[in-house]
Amino acid sequence: MKGIILAGGGGTRLRPLTVSTNKHLLALYDKPVIYYAVKKLVDAGIDRIMIVTSPEAIESMVKLLGSGADFMSKRTGKQIQIVYGIQNQPNGIAYGLWIAKDYIGNDNCVLYLGDNIFEDDLTPHIKKFKSGATVFLKEVADPERFGIATLGQNSKILDIDEKPTKPKTNYAVTGVYMYDSTVFKKCLSLKASERGEYEITDINKQYIKDGKLHGIFLKKEWFDIGTFDSLLETANFIRNKNNDNKKK
Ligand code: TTP
Repeated sequence: MKGIILAGGGGTRLRPLTVSTNKHLLALYDKPVIYYAVKKLVDAGIDRIMIVTSPEAIESMVKLLGSGADFMSKRTGKQIQIVYGIQNQPNGIAYGLWIAKDYIGNDNCVLYLGDNIFEDDLTPHIKKFKSGATVFLKEVADPERFGIATLGQNSKILDIDEKPTKPKTNYAVTGVYMYDSTVFKKCLSLKASERGEYEITDINKQYIKDGKLHGIFLKKEWFDIGTFDSLLETANFIRNKNNDNKKK
């Protein structure tokens, strides 16, 4: 399994913080945001990662992460591999995924939205994944703001409603997805949505049609640092956790 971290996007909700830099390079307590995403994947046993970012951010991203020398593989004890892809415009998460097509080849992949922070260990789920697609779900208090999943038997997902006005559940689809290599064939039939983006939900709906989309519930905290409040809240959470760990 290879990893793809999306670190492009417009970051418009964080302006002016993101006028002269990329959202994933901002400070999150003691490290840049992107570090947490790379570490989460490396801790879960992923040794080969493509970071997809904008033309404006690529130089800083390479300066920060280079070929991956700060991250050691759990399997080999040696440095992991980081490579880069460029997304010319923020034209959607599914388009960012498409950029990694040749790098992923016939492998399975885990797609990670770089502004998401997860406390759960993804290792067992990544190990277990064989085919189809899996999304990670979290119960939320404000389902109107998210893609919301309806579940059937055996954690199969029956539907995903984007920002529903009358949500059927409060199970939000978070920013980590696991796909088999058929995902790239599915990308080919996508059309841009009304907001001009290639939507990852449209990919997930194709898996639903085939009866091959599953949901796994996260047990611990999940943050997306896309707003001022969530950036601050997440930084405070990390600081408190670090301090608790020091006391142990
Ligand atoms: P979003 O938070 O949905 O979008 P954004 O980063 O453009 O921010 P804003 O809404 O404030 O303008 O993006 C979720 C994640 O996906 C984030 O880590 C950026 C990444 N992304 C890309 O890499 N390429 C894209 O085209 C889009 C839309 C998002």
